[in-house]
Amino acid sequence: MTDHTPAAPYRQPTFHPIPSFYGKSLPAVRLEADLYDCEIEGVVPPELNGTLYRLGGDMLYPTIGDADNIINGDGLMMKFRIEDGHVDFRSRYVRTQRYLTQRAARRRLYNEYRNPYTDEPDAPEIPDRDNTANTFAMWFDDRLFALREDSHPHEIDPETLETLEVFDFGGKLRSSALSAHTKVDPVTGEWWAFGLFAQRRFEGEVALIVADAHGELIREELFEAPYPGLMHDFAVTREHVIFDIQPLTVDLERAKAGGDFYAYDPELPSMWGIMPRSGTVADIRWFRAPDVVVGHIMNAYTEGTRVIVDAPVSPGNAFPFFTDVHGQPTDVDESFARITRLTFDLAGEHDEHDEPTVAPVPGAVGEMPRIDDRFAMEKYRYGFFKSAEGISRIDWETGELSTFPMLPPSLAHEPVFVPRSDDAPEGDGFIVTVVNHYHTNRGELLILDAQDLAAGPVARAKIPFAPHFTFHGSFARNV
Ligand SMILES: [Fe+2]
Repeated sequence: MTDHTPAAPYRQPTFHPIPSFYGKSLPAVRLEADLYDCEIEGVVPPELNGTLYRLGGDMLYPTIGDADNIINGDGLMMKFRIEDGHVDFRSRYVRTQRYLTQRAARRRLYNEYRNPYTDEPDAPEIPDRDNTANTFAMWFDDRLFALREDSHPHEIDPETLETLEVFDFGGKLRSSALSAHTKVDPVTGEWWAFGLFAQRRFEGEVALIVADAHGELIREELFEAPYPGLMHDFAVTREHVIFDIQPLTVDLERAKAGGDFYAYDPELPSMWGIMPRSGTVADIRWFRAPDVVVGHIMNAYTEGTRVIVDAPVSPGNAFPFFTDVHGQPTDVDESFARITRLTFDLAGEHDEHDEPTVAPVPGAVGEMPRIDDRFAMEKYRYGFFKSAEGISRIDWETGELSTFPMLPPSLAHEPVFVPRSDDAPEGDGFIVTVVNHYHTNRGELLILDAQDLAAGPVARAKIPFAPHFTFHGSFARNV
């Protein structure tokens, strides 16, 4: 006899908002879209022909209550293609193993951030469970990559945003991870990166990874950090490499018990390792920096015996969706960062008690710093960041701050600088940034004159929904 009993009706789990930074939560968007010819307000500068690529974490399937977070989201890439004053929009999820497996199952299988012990009992084992490909849309050597710090990049088709292959330098990369933040040397064209927990021992093992201007791996060295802490970004100057280990530590026993992969330890100083570029990882000198918690680096340079690092610095847990090591929530106010200049003096005898000088810029509360990338690794004048007031520029020569105001419920993404031309002076060009207007459920690409932010947008290219929040991106000229 055939059983004609209908299947139990499927009940979709609730989509919770995704816990994000500063104690905020954001809705999942879950949309792959194509929009030909965005509505434009103003005039898009002809110097801006090219494509802005951006990448962030969305959730194809529901966020798990409060234990989830935005850095655990599925990589969703967007592009704004600018051609002769017209702007076309496209967004596509990165087809990671995790995405494809969950999509086929039509449900969430892999749960908390980097914690397989929280997965659904029937979740198929996949080798790259943590690779959500969600952090940095990186343009390098005319290729587009979706970077994610615990695993290898996915290469993406710059035109269609289709996912190509996982990139590991043709099988040569030994590190299991390649950082989300990498640095391209504007002089040599080299691509500098690191791999945190490069052997998945989670004991503080870090790889230094360097490729030449054409993506050939030319250097990979392993060292042990002072403790198994988070390192999201790093810095390279013309003469030094700076590694920054943050007091959010990994404890596999905690993860096995269902706790967070990272937890904030207020007793630990951040640790800053400085290595001469001409040396090896054996030459790293470590400095300690109590009450200095850093996610991102704006820029860094070497001046004589001093290494200067500019970064948004928080006094406490900069990732407040992770608890402290006792499982307690941390103070969200201590996650707010101030643009700060750290100076490391390499002169004289060195010991493990050495600390940098720490000089916050008055009034410069903000994050997501960018620069004119042609001036990376050297003394520079301008930095751009998402500030408490809007989109801001700091002039390091005069100390002056200038701002295009933007207040909640509008939310700006990272401001990307595009020079007016390849030989324009530093800072002469445009800021391109995506803005979500949550009160109208609309979004836009905002184009500002980088030298006159306060004058307001030169142009806006509108999209008829508030897109997912994106972390980091690149502008590819004439692409
Ligand atoms: Fe980042």
